[in-house]
Amino acid sequence: MHEKISNHMTTTTIIIFINVNDAPLGPTPLPSLHFKNLTVLHYPQINVSLHTLKLDVLYFGALCSLTSHPFTMFSTAVPIFTLLSLSLLLAPVQGWRPWPASSNITAYALGDSKKYEGSSEFVKLRYHMGPVMSTNITVHTIWYGTWSPSQKKIIREFINSISATSSPHPSVSGWWRTVQLYTDQTGANISRTVKLGEEKNDRFYSHGKSLTRLSIQSVIRSAITASTRPLPINPRSGLYLLLTSHDVYVQDFCTSVCGFHYFTFPSLVGYTLPYAWVGNSAKLCPGYCAYPFALPAMFVPPSPSPNNRKPFKSPNGDVGVDGMISVIAHEMAELATNPLANAWYAGQDPSFPVEIADLCEGIYGTGGGGSYTGQVLDARDGATYNMNGIRRKFLVQWVWSHVLNYCTGPNALDHSSSLNH
Ligand SMILES: *[C@@H]1O[C@H](CO)[C@@H](O)[C@H](O)[C@H]1NC(C)=O
Ligand SMILES: *[C@@H]1O[C@H](CO)[C@@H](O)[C@H](O)[C@H]1NC(C)=O
Ligand SMILES: *[C@@H]1O[C@H](CO)[C@@H](O)[C@H](O)[C@H]1NC(C)=O
Repeated sequence: MHEKISNHMTTTTIIIFINVNDAPLGPTPLPSLHFKNLTVLHYPQINVSLHTLKLDVLYFGALCSLTSHPFTMFSTAVPIFTLLSLSLLLAPVQGWRPWPASSNITAYALGDSKKYEGSSEFVKLRYHMGPVMSTNITVHTIWYGTWSPSQKKIIREFINSISATSSPHPSVSGWWRTVQLYTDQTGANISRTVKLGEEKNDRFYSHGKSLTRLSIQSVIRSAITASTRPLPINPRSGLYLLLTSHDVYVQDFCTSVCGFHYFTFPSLVGYTLPYAWVGNSAKLCPGYCAYPFALPAMFVPPSPSPNNRKPFKSPNGDVGVDGMISVIAHEMAELATNPLANAWYAGQDPSFPVEIADLCEGIYGTGGGGSYTGQVLDARDGATYNMNGIRRKFLVQWVWSHVLNYCTGPNALDHSSSLNH
């Protein structure tokens, strides 16, 4: 799947990633569209929201400017956008992609990405009366495939950092404080405490090196029914985190998602357990899922770009795993606020909700938006990060605050930072 994208990139076809929901769309599926020199590909396996569609169109604007293509953002994107708005019944996105979110199409048309942290203009994040994870959260990790002790350590220390009170500002626990602002209908907040639970190694790829969304549930079933040291069954406060190593392909990995979350089906697993999957993209698509520690093929310029497009140095010396951290954070924030897909999300369709981290994709600091990460920090060794954890630094995307009505994080430079100390 990723090959398909790269091939088009190397032939310098201009591509819009139109992510069309695979649910019924009306009379016929949308064919690929051709506008003069412009090829519009669509990926029917990808789910989309109106919000995401906008950002894809905006992303196309970025591509145009990177390739110095004669199209202007405005002359092409607007008709396409209009066309799609009219022709599609759009459903929100489920998975995570690194392309930054924005909702001010005008600002982008005018090339303005100076100050962008999401806007409340289009965002209708609502609470749908379902449960949130308000009791102490225990993360049960399944290490699928080949993992080194040092890789496990980075991820464990990130998870432990969420409730650590000792990390210097800006901290991972400061980042989680925005997640804690969400409540259920009884007024109970998301738990402040997130701790590591039991772990399970699936070293021998029990379900092969290519997993589907359903076989992921089988991996979880195997882990909770194992004859030796099964994972505990904890539907109320357990968060099951399946992490696949760099040599494992998962359905939609690299083409539309870097991770996703859902809950297991009792018919398959025996219980309804909130889970997330995140893959190590180091071999398959670092430019997509470990961005900005690696850059997508189309950002690696045939002719050098003036806008210093170099990958950032990763804070823990492992591009794949450092890239996973932000995706793990993304999924955990969404699981906590929407574990059964009936609590906090925007959009009309509960099966493809736009959740609190979807709204802030690609935003890591003040001013973030477009292809700009926002203001982040430089470590002494030149690595880029935006928050401190236990003994380590991490780069983690921001999440949506329904109190502030925009994306925020502990390293925010404006008034919201007081919230995150
Ligand atoms: C969107 O951007 C334009 C151009 O920068 C600006 O005039 C307008 O106020 C912005 N709208 C919002 C809602 O931020
Ligand atoms: C939740 O975690 C806190 C902090 O670790 C602890 O003090 C408290 O006893 C825990 N509550 C339960 C019900 O386990
Ligand atoms: C709980 O949520 C409410 C509503 O967002 C917020 O005002 C309050 O500060 C939160 N409490 C904690 C401990 O985060």
